[in-house]
Amino acid sequence: MKGVTSLFLLQNVMSICSWSLDNVCEADDIKCQNTQISNPGEIVYGQCYRHAALRRLLKVSFLTCLKECMKTSNCVNVSYRRGWKMCDINGNVKSEVELVQEHGCFSSNISSWSKTLVGKCANHSCKDGYICVLKGDVITCELAYCIGRPSVANALLNEPFGLSRDHGHGMMYKCANGLKLSGKPFAVCHKTGIWKSMFICEKSCEKGWIKFGDHCYYIGPDEKTWDDSKADCIRKGSYLVKIEDASENRWLQTVMTDNNIGKLWICAHDIGIEGTWCWIYDNTTVNFTNWGVGEPNNHEGNENCAELSEAALYGWNDGVCTSVLQYICERQIQA
Ligand SMILES: *[C@@H]1O[C@H](CO)[C@@H](O)[C@H](O)[C@H]1NC(C)=O
Ligand SMILES: *[C@@H]1O[C@H](CO)[C@@H](O)[C@H](O)[C@H]1NC(C)=O
Ligand SMILES: *[C@@H]1O[C@H](CO)[C@@H](O)[C@H](O)[C@H]1NC(C)=O
Ligand SMILES: *[C@@H]1O[C@H](CO)[C@@H](O)[C@H](O)[C@H]1NC(C)=O
Ligand SMILES: *[C@@H]1O[C@H](CO)[C@@H](O)[C@H](O)[C@H]1NC(C)=O
Repeated sequence: MKGVTSLFLLQNVMSICSWSLDNVCEADDIKCQNTQISNPGEIVYGQCYRHAALRRLLKVSFLTCLKECMKTSNCVNVSYRRGWKMCDINGNVKSEVELVQEHGCFSSNISSWSKTLVGKCANHSCKDGYICVLKGDVITCELAYCIGRPSVANALLNEPFGLSRDHGHGMMYKCANGLKLSGKPFAVCHKTGIWKSMFICEKSCEKGWIKFGDHCYYIGPDEKTWDDSKADCIRKGSYLVKIEDASENRWLQTVMTDNNIGKLWICAHDIGIEGTWCWIYDNTTVNFTNWGVGEPNNHEGNENCAELSEAALYGWNDGVCTSVLQYICERQIQA
């Protein structure tokens, strides 16, 4: 078998043959070298599977790896990374499984090994997600892995050796292009055997803009007339804020108090027909309002632009369009 050992040293060499356990067991691992195995199974060198692991064991011998596979329901083969003594117990997982060429990794079809290695567990009929555990003379089934993949929208797995599904373990994720991760970047296989994602990937606003719902908002730092405010928002690829409902209105009130803003232009106006308020952004009539007490009053016949005003208890007021106030621009969140 010496010739075969040197083959193993060549990069990306793959071969299938029957091996003596000298090739897969560490020299000092007497247990692994055990002559119990009279007929070693097939080993494919330089080739492993990704995303197929039901369980991933670290610092175990290849023999332990084989035994654990035999005890695990649905295990069809193992991938073993000798350098890490890492064992992937692979299930019959069809979706997204990748075959990877990886030096120092080998795979083995579990059916090619004798099941006598695991005693009574050889014939277990544990269900999906369970492993066979021998307690004294009695075999029991214990929950050991989650079924399937976690549901993580717009996220990418961030694990060098691919997905594994171990009970009580987390798999690291990152968000797909440009999306912002909120929470902790893990999907955890819970003790109940159900995947639980601890984060979401969402669109975010660019620097200087604040997110509310699926819109981004920009607080104009200087005071401008209503027309100039409107023009500045358009320059920024947005529009002077249009308040659609009570929740957006409430949120804007907190923006004002948080930023010490006394008055703020919004895009409602009645420039065309006195008393008929509409939104300059899309020329739709204003149907949610939050006018302050006694407003709008068109004071001195000269108030045609709407503002949020601290004096009106953060309600709406009709103001003189040429007054200079702070303003807020709004736009739809982008990808
Ligand atoms: C090993 O398991 C993977 C995942 O189920 C499967 O795609 C592959 O065909 C199996 N290979 C062998 C040699 O059994
Ligand atoms: C695994 O080995 C068994 C028995 O040697 C064989 O019947 C089966 O086709 C093999 N599976 C794969 C995917 O190679
Ligand atoms: C498992 O089942 C096979 C076939 O039914 C049988 O020959 C074998 O003795 C059983 N092994 C154990 C450990 O019970
Ligand atoms: C806005 O709507 C009003 C009434 O529906 C209409 O008279 C006016 O021409 C519209 N203005 C624009 C700029 O579309
Ligand atoms: C508000 O007005 C828009 C059109 O201007 C209309 O589509 C919408 O249904 C109205 N909403 C309510 C609550 O009346």
